Amino acid sequence: MKAMVYHKYGSADVLKLEEVAIPAPKDDEVLVKIHAVSINGSDREGLIGKPLYARIGGLRKPGYPILGSDIAGRVEKAGRNITQFQFGDEVFGEIPGYHGGFAEYACASEQTLALKPASLTFEEAAAIPQGGVIALQGIREKGQVQPGHQVLINGAGGSAGVFAVQLAKLYGAEVTGVDNTGKMDFLRSLGADHVIDYTRQNFTKNGKQYDLILDLIAHRSVFSYRRALKPNGTYFFVGGSIGTLFQILFLGPWIKRTTGKNVRILMVPQNNKDLIAITELCVSGTVTPIIDRVYPFNKGPEALRYVGEGHAKGKVVIRVE
Ligand SMILES: NC(=O)c1ccc[n+]([C@@H]2O[C@H](COP(=O)([O-])OP(=O)(O)OC[C@H]3O[C@@H](n4cnc5c(N)ncnc54)[C@H](OP(=O)(O)O)[C@@H]3O)[C@@H](O)[C@H]2O)c1
Repeated sequence: MKAMVYHKYGSADVLKLEEVAIPAPKDDEVLVKIHAVSINGSDREGLIGKPLYARIGGLRKPGYPILGSDIAGRVEKAGRNITQFQFGDEVFGEIPGYHGGFAEYACASEQTLALKPASLTFEEAAAIPQGGVIALQGIREKGQVQPGHQVLINGAGGSAGVFAVQLAKLYGAEVTGVDNTGKMDFLRSLGADHVIDYTRQNFTKNGKQYDLILDLIAHRSVFSYRRALKPNGTYFFVGGSIGTLFQILFLGPWIKRTTGKNVRILMVPQNNKDLIAITELCVSGTVTPIIDRVYPFNKGPEALRYVGEGHAKGKVVIRVE
């Protein structure tokens, strides 16, 4: 099969289309013939090897040579213990470990896949999984957003952010979206009540406080986030620098004890229950998977370059077949 492969961390230039062996599914795996795969922040990070957690599989060079986690396609082969899917089913979801999807075939687990609704295209289905599940957990399940809440989403124009803005509005919040200069009108079009350009303003220093901050790209000190929270407010670190992550791990419980403010890591396990829940909202038209561009497979490195240069508004999808 053809796959978009990389052997060292770097820019999109290190990605090459190569012939590799089709992976063999284990008993509890499904082999999917991929029709579409979308790009997430995790791919951006895995490509450049930053933050440090992106090198968990390989410190000096990538532990796994194929990135890509959010796929949609058809079941080619089901392992012996698979009960939910069979040959030919149209499925979509995440690949455990966040790799293997920039290819014509990939193996995935039954727990992270779901049947693709007929009303969604493969491209739309591939645009939902990781970002949609993070947003659902951050805004509805763990975030418990209520009408009137002040919610700030940092990194609001990216994969998870576009779902988070829509969900926070759906549940009645007043939403502030933070992203780069080129995405301000885009965030307003998603429903954000206020927008902040991160290249011009630091949201932790403008005197405003929020009930919930969902941070998809955290890099500040834990004390800045404490300052930006209302009493009893919650800050969720979803992704960002290792320094910030460790500060939150060590100082978050102390901040909670001394101020009542919750500053914590949001862990979002890959799972098909949340995937099905967010997809139902997409099928009913309540939430829209926003696709900025679709690239053909042979232009995959260009797709990663477009995302890496900060242009993408929502999702970028690669059509494999
Ligand atoms: N906690 C968990 O369990 C879990 C699970 C899966 C993934 N993750 C993590 O989730 C994170 C978010 O992923 P994603 O897919 O939404 O990322 P994404 O698609 O890359 O979106 C990030 C957005 O943030 C913007 N941005 C960049 N620098 C910024 C800054 N200083 N301030 C505000 N916004 C900034 C980006 O714009 P530009 O275009 O300007 O760069 C982009 O629009 C990743 O770090 C990923 O590893 C966490």
